[in-house]
Amino acid sequence: MNTEKIVRTFVEYFQERDHRRITGSTLLPPPGDSVLFTTSGMHPLTPYLEGRPHPLGRRLVNVQRCLRTTDLEEVGDATHLTVFEMLGTWSLGDYEGSLSLDWGYRLLTDGLGVDPGLLHATVYGGDDQTGPDTASLQLWQDLGVPVELTVEDNWWSNGPVGPCGPDSEIFLWSGDTPPQSTPTRDDRWVEVWNHVMMRHRRLEDGSLVPLPQRNVDTGLGLERLASLLQGQSSVFECDVFDPWRRIVPALWPLDEPSLRLVYDHLRSAIVVLGDGVRPANTGRGYVLRRLLRRVLTVLWRDDPSRGLGDLPDELVSHTLDHFRQKVDPSDVRRLLLEEECRFSRLLERGRQVLARSRFQGPLKDEDFQYLHDTHGLPRDLVTSLRQE
Ligand code: ALA
Repeated sequence: MNTEKIVRTFVEYFQERDHRRITGSTLLPPPGDSVLFTTSGMHPLTPYLEGRPHPLGRRLVNVQRCLRTTDLEEVGDATHLTVFEMLGTWSLGDYEGSLSLDWGYRLLTDGLGVDPGLLHATVYGGDDQTGPDTASLQLWQDLGVPVELTVEDNWWSNGPVGPCGPDSEIFLWSGDTPPQSTPTRDDRWVEVWNHVMMRHRRLEDGSLVPLPQRNVDTGLGLERLASLLQGQSSVFECDVFDPWRRIVPALWPLDEPSLRLVYDHLRSAIVVLGDGVRPANTGRGYVLRRLLRRVLTVLWRDDPSRGLGDLPDELVSHTLDHFRQKVDPSDVRRLLLEEECRFSRLLERGRQVLARSRFQGPLKDEDFQYLHDTHGLPRDLVTSLRQE
């Protein structure tokens, strides 16, 4: 089952249960929001989770692209991507969490064909502020799905303050042999769908107050589910990466971890450019710049003649089409090449400056400061140039 079919099945399943589809939104959060990028499907819905009536009603479904830089170092493992898609559903003060979990179970098993024996759930076990989530526990026990209780792992919030709540996560088994253990003890259990009972607001002083309504906020990682349904061992093997795996290894023969980094970061950079971000030294533009510099560092490590100019248009247009971005692929290519050129000039200058006798010994903080302020060389770049 390809990702398109998974999305269609998911959206139709919830539409049949009276959910209205909201349009998948850009990676850029609304003005005034404190985060750089949308990190979860609920993000654009915060005011509605806090009680404002949503124009489309109390049951919503959508597909939201998300970007998480906290996982940047984990990219390359089997389950993390920088830009990924989250299928989401919301009950804005309407139905309860156990109904959401029940629908989730039925969609996964009846609708998408997951073997019920390969499912595991986790549920919030309670602490001194909030009691255990007995309703979710009961639901899983009634369905015969094994459950593990945890505390920190089953509490979800989008930041230190704001809407939050206990959650129940659904894991799928990715191992070759039958599962013996639980999600916290065996990472072959892959978390695919999180159902958050979003009923609390965390205040600045750390205390919790009830939200005006009892919500459910769910998020399912599309590429993770797709790779498992397609019998693949990593997100890089699911169908959205087909053109990348067909084209890139022939173009740039790299080891598998480097290929994964290139697929992930380049694809993310294209989407971020498609949403209107431009490379810069701060904020969103700096995230974009870092993604591209990491790609170029890998490409140039053993062959400085490689470059983004080698990249076929197909990869750019496939990515923009997939994310329904109405942007001219040649504009994206031009921006990629301009940034490559800037980085190349910066490296050249960095090598020249670092060759001076003043920088031959260990570098002090004021050296890093000078190199940054006078020559525009960021600390991490200086460090990597010194290791060349
Ligand atoms: N907001 C929840 C998450 O991102 C569903 O996991």
